[in-house]
Amino acid sequence: MRKIIVAIDGYSSCGKSTVAKQLAQYAGYTYVDTGAMYRAVALAVNRAGVAGQKEQIIALLPKLSITFTQSAGGQHVCLNGEDVEPFIRTLEVGNLASQVAAIGEVRHFLVQQQQELGQAKGIVMDGRDIGTVVFPEAELKLFLTARPEVRAERRLKELQEKGEQPVYEEVLRDVNDRDYRDTHRAESPLRQAQDAIVVDNSDMTKDEQLSYIQHLFDDCINR
Ligand code: DC
Repeated sequence: MRKIIVAIDGYSSCGKSTVAKQLAQYAGYTYVDTGAMYRAVALAVNRAGVAGQKEQIIALLPKLSITFTQSAGGQHVCLNGEDVEPFIRTLEVGNLASQVAAIGEVRHFLVQQQQELGQAKGIVMDGRDIGTVVFPEAELKLFLTARPEVRAERRLKELQEKGEQPVYEEVLRDVNDRDYRDTHRAESPLRQAQDAIVVDNSDMTKDEQLSYIQHLFDDCINR
């Protein structure tokens, strides 16, 4: 059976990673969470105390090694060999990730690594620019979206499950701010590839969405 590249892009908190993981498992493919890579860079920037300082951030890049490791809880991202998964899923790191992701040199640094990861195909990669920049030739491109209020509710739950005590209005503002930054930055702004299939999952259950996407995948590999 031929192996393909599945590119999943979309707004933050659309459930991209959930569906990407499920599809990768269904297909027997490798899953790559590119948001985790930007978050790992953001964490490094935070630790180095250079947030907001573009030149220092760029100077930090050659010192960073971003890899993935498989653990019982799934795939974890490592920063210079340290499993940093427990530190990268906070609102603070998410916001900083969105800021460092606007720097061209950071994008170039990570896009190169992402392209290498997809060389052998058989990969499901999610992010903001996978179908447009990283793999414009991907055989299957999905663009996930949902209403901002629905995404804020989902993010709220996720944060609560991690023991944080978020305020809904702040989470909604964060979702809207992040959408704005991700779609308005000069470098690879989030946009839908012309040949992407749009999936608005605001009113879909996870099962409905998965079976729809599995059909799209099956159609694609049998084409
Ligand atoms: O998907 P996420 O929330 O983990 O991503 C964190 C930030 O990284 C997000 O605000 C935008 C950025 N990002 C990006 O610019 N390009 C990608 N391919 C993935 C994430």
